[in-house]
Amino acid sequence: MTKRILFRSFHILNSKFYIPSQFTTHDKNNHMLRFLFPALILSLTLIQSAIAFQSIIPKPVEIKHTDEADFRIHRNMAIVTDTEDEKLNRLAGMVRDLVYPSTWTFLPVSDTFAPKDTVIILELTGTDAVPQPEGYTLSVDPSAIRIQASSYAGLFYGIQTLRQLLPSETGFNDPSLMPRNTEPSIPAMEIKDHPRFEYRGMHLDVARHFFPADFVKRYIDLMAMHKMNRFHWHLTEDQGWRIEIKKYPKLTTIGAWRDSTLIGNYGSGEYDGIRHGGFYTQEEIREIVSYAAERYVTIIPEIEMPGHSSAALAAYPEFGCFDKEYKVQSTWGVFEDIYCPKEETFGFLEDVLTEVMELFPGTYIHIGGDEAPKKQWQQSEIAQEVIKREGLADEHELQSYFITRIEQFLNANGRQIIGWDEILEGGLAPQATVMSWRGEAGGIEAAQMKHDVVMTPGGTNYFDHYQADPSSEPIAIGGYTNLEDIYRYEPVPDTLTEEEAKYILGAQGNVWTEYMHTPDKVEYMAYPRAAALAEVVWTPAENKNWLEFWARMQTHFKRLDALGVNYGPHYNRGIKN
Ligand code: ACM
Repeated sequence: MTKRILFRSFHILNSKFYIPSQFTTHDKNNHMLRFLFPALILSLTLIQSAIAFQSIIPKPVEIKHTDEADFRIHRNMAIVTDTEDEKLNRLAGMVRDLVYPSTWTFLPVSDTFAPKDTVIILELTGTDAVPQPEGYTLSVDPSAIRIQASSYAGLFYGIQTLRQLLPSETGFNDPSLMPRNTEPSIPAMEIKDHPRFEYRGMHLDVARHFFPADFVKRYIDLMAMHKMNRFHWHLTEDQGWRIEIKKYPKLTTIGAWRDSTLIGNYGSGEYDGIRHGGFYTQEEIREIVSYAAERYVTIIPEIEMPGHSSAALAAYPEFGCFDKEYKVQSTWGVFEDIYCPKEETFGFLEDVLTEVMELFPGTYIHIGGDEAPKKQWQQSEIAQEVIKREGLADEHELQSYFITRIEQFLNANGRQIIGWDEILEGGLAPQATVMSWRGEAGGIEAAQMKHDVVMTPGGTNYFDHYQADPSSEPIAIGGYTNLEDIYRYEPVPDTLTEEEAKYILGAQGNVWTEYMHTPDKVEYMAYPRAAALAEVVWTPAENKNWLEFWARMQTHFKRLDALGVNYGPHYNRGIKN
């Protein structure tokens, strides 16, 4: 049994199943109570939320309703922005598409208000009304909806808010969902909004199972709609290498394919016997990177090292320590196969990372670093020679040497590394950002050492866990994390001083796909938990309220329905399966 699976099993033993705590009745057969109580809470909170919060997720920092009349969406309007500016034009196009299902006409985009009497204005200004760089203001009065920000990203977030001010069916799908000429109206209000954290992430493991490029785009779309801005793309693993590298074609001709897949529980020995694989071409990756950029999402590619590298070693065994047969793995867990710390391996990894940097313009490259067993390094003369040559104490310091060499290479090219919290063992590379997954201890230690941290603790931020009673759920790897658990997550541990807390860049939800064979299953596991996480990383902690969020979710489920998102339905109307 591996650490990750052990870790997850621990959570499953400690889980509390069935109904969210506030709805729990001692008599589970008492259906009246089970339905009436949530219904009462729902109606009270819905009324409150309709007035105060408009069911926007993540909840904005401030919404003030004003006494003016509503703004009516109708055909005779214009979208006003600086049409000379290509990015503003693209943002205006997004607004036009969102409004289309309500008007059945494409509104003109223009530089001037005339001749229309009502307008939606997108304005790039030097506003200091809200914190920058991602803040925005949105005001609604009878003649105009005005979105202002000092960055394009801020305007994009204002547009995401506008999208949620429209009826939940509109702007989310096919206009035929909308009856003609409904002319929806939006109450007069002033919104001031900005994110709490700069890093608002979702992760996707495309290695345990491969998902088509179009699904990756949809995943990014859903993130962006929730104002998330970092997509951690887990591209290499023991079970498959998913990124085309021109200099090393066998990474994908061999490394992207496995013979069979474990389909039963870990240890069941139940395999499907079906070849599985696939990879993204560099052309597809460029397209996805630019698609993400248009939605203000930065992609952080992960190239795992020194462990979780069976697929790469199956393709190029010469970068292992032993002359043995390596294979692309068909089961899950942690494998002893590991890159050998010899010069040829560093040359190979630098070549790979050079192509990776050409494809991904963002600052961060994730280099993995987790779950790297040291047994082969203990047995390898080459690894032991490196330990002696470099004056290292042991194999943990050898891992630190390995990661630090890669960091130096990436830093010399203007990039920064992120690694899982195991990179603290044996000494943290000087500039590294730590992704804390084995709880928060690694993140706390790193912040105390003045290193940046992204929080992804397994107990709350692993969206591969069950979200309801496993006996009624499709198979998952283990654990239990329901919507409320992630909603209540606080990324800044109270053990940190105010100064240390500044190193917590934000948080992320991790979607490991051992038991997610299809895009539908990924959506089932990622949503609605990602919506709760969006509020964790965007909304000020003091504005959060679980019941009120849950009430807003009732409207949000309709939006997800309109988009055809296959979310886990357990909290839809508060009734768990
Ligand atoms: C991890 O879950 N091994 C980072």
